[in-house]
Amino acid sequence: MCGIIGYTGKKNCVPFLMEGLKRLEYRGYDSAGVSILQAGQIVTVRSVGKVEELEKAVLQANPQGMTGMGHTRWATHGKPSEENSHPHTDCTGDLVVVHNGIIENYLSLREKLESYGHKFSSETDTEVIAHLIEENLLHVRAADDEERLIKAISKTNSSLSGAFAYYVMWARTPYLLAGTKIQNPMVVGLGKDENYLASDVPAFLAHTNKVLFVEDGEIAVIKSSGAKILNANGSVQKRKAVKIDWDQKTAEKGGYRHFLLKEIYDQPQALEDTLRTARMDFSKVLGLDTAAIRKLRTVHIIACGSAYHAALVGKYYLEQLAGIVANVDLASEYKYRALVPVKDALAIAVSQSGETADTLGAVQKAKEAGFRTLAICNVRGSSLTRLCDGVFYTHCGPEISVASTKTFTSQITALYAMAMFLGQANGNISKAVFEKSYKELLMLPKAMNEAVKLEYEVRHLTRKIYKADRFIFLGRHVNFPIALEGALKLKEVSYKSAEGFAAGEIKHGPISVIDKGTPVFMLMPADGLFDKMVSACQECRARGAFVVAITTKAGVKPLKNFVDKIIIVPKTSDLLQPVLDIVPLQFLAYWIAKRLGCDIDHPRHLAKSVTVE
Ligand code: F6R
Repeated sequence: MCGIIGYTGKKNCVPFLMEGLKRLEYRGYDSAGVSILQAGQIVTVRSVGKVEELEKAVLQANPQGMTGMGHTRWATHGKPSEENSHPHTDCTGDLVVVHNGIIENYLSLREKLESYGHKFSSETDTEVIAHLIEENLLHVRAADDEERLIKAISKTNSSLSGAFAYYVMWARTPYLLAGTKIQNPMVVGLGKDENYLASDVPAFLAHTNKVLFVEDGEIAVIKSSGAKILNANGSVQKRKAVKIDWDQKTAEKGGYRHFLLKEIYDQPQALEDTLRTARMDFSKVLGLDTAAIRKLRTVHIIACGSAYHAALVGKYYLEQLAGIVANVDLASEYKYRALVPVKDALAIAVSQSGETADTLGAVQKAKEAGFRTLAICNVRGSSLTRLCDGVFYTHCGPEISVASTKTFTSQITALYAMAMFLGQANGNISKAVFEKSYKELLMLPKAMNEAVKLEYEVRHLTRKIYKADRFIFLGRHVNFPIALEGALKLKEVSYKSAEGFAAGEIKHGPISVIDKGTPVFMLMPADGLFDKMVSACQECRARGAFVVAITTKAGVKPLKNFVDKIIIVPKTSDLLQPVLDIVPLQFLAYWIAKRLGCDIDHPRHLAKSVTVE
């Protein structure tokens, strides 16, 4: 949720920290701060608001130093204020900490530390880490200050419960930064004469794409001369550097005004890159041979938010293409279900970041119940990819906008590819059907290229409707999850009240919210359910709704007298149609938010990676 970054090298670290914090701002943006080691002393600058506010304060204070760290906050404990902003310090002011995550037992730790005489100056859970390390530094024995610090961090970790990543800077070891993590992201970037720590690769991607992944409970130590990873006992761990195949360009706005808009336009490429691996041998990915695949009877798909909507589409794929009953759950709910232990079962976790705490918890639960686990994930080396037995990567490049777009459509195609593979392997579909489905899949990037041309038309439409109080989205079958996703996109970035329903359900209650002029978006490609959707159009129109049909070319003529506006999306197979149908709704959310003057890339109260439960 928060973004943290650190640097040690031979240059003044301030420009790097500020640039990195801006790149991490999608993780939280209610306050920010930096600490710099300047001439043996720690100088801290903090401010409420976005990183640009911090930038002004930093410009004034003008700190300089070759070791430093920064933080951009998404408040959990304590309101956004300067006192609650990170970095937080111990009583001496010689040791500072930045932290992402939650320390669940911070209250009892704080009471104990206060009884030892520690003075606290914030309401945060983070501050206990600084004081606990200070306390532990007094009690550990070591040959030098570096070893002492590592031992104190390790001892501190054993007292903390929760999920967290934090970095420590100490005036007595001015040449190094140490970082550690439990179930929260932290990567080490390897540069030349400089090294970095960050919550996420895009923070330092302009400087290096060589990274080390840190495991839970390990401690990373970076100096200008190199980086090492230690286990809790202080022994050096062997770790191979990984080259990340993202480039800086994909992590920048590339001439677009907002990341959200840029990432909508990234979709043809993201699909193309994801599909390049779609024909991979899933039995290897799943770690199951054909006999085991044939036995597979139960699949549980777990995810949150947009990924959950992609999972809902995946359910239709697994049932139709693979003949497997699929159960889709919100990860936050799944964790508290009474799971019956099963044999021959697979749990699929869908996640852009691979760091969503609810999803990680749900996977853990599925594992305990005996499920084999597969991640569909966009971030190499993320916690989810290390937790699951197998991984299928979506190759979307970094997704910076808080509202997901390109990863959503790629997740759907990944689920389709997998269902196709399972269906062929277990004999549910013939080779001919497999080849036809595969061909259709490969045509998607081209169709997506056409779909993104709808921006102008949708933009024009929003001029008419952007002031409406409430928006409704309706769809059936594979387009029902698209109605949910369309509503979520609009809510997230424009703060408008928006709801998605299965079109057949409106008569069971939701139709009562439709009023004169309520914009109702109908996801209705010319498929087998088209006529049923036409009935829903009539029902809504009879109540005064402003009905917009999102359909394919063949739907235009029959719809002429039943709707107020028709948007034509390119045609693909019925099952894959949702991948294209969501595009006008992504533009809709963008343009309504834009007309309302919302902060599109930083929607209020949200953060990109939800690493707390
Ligand atoms: C919506 C959105 C969120 C995420 C959700 C899961 O636009 O971005 O709803 O989909 O928080 O995140 P991941 O996919 O990273 O697990």
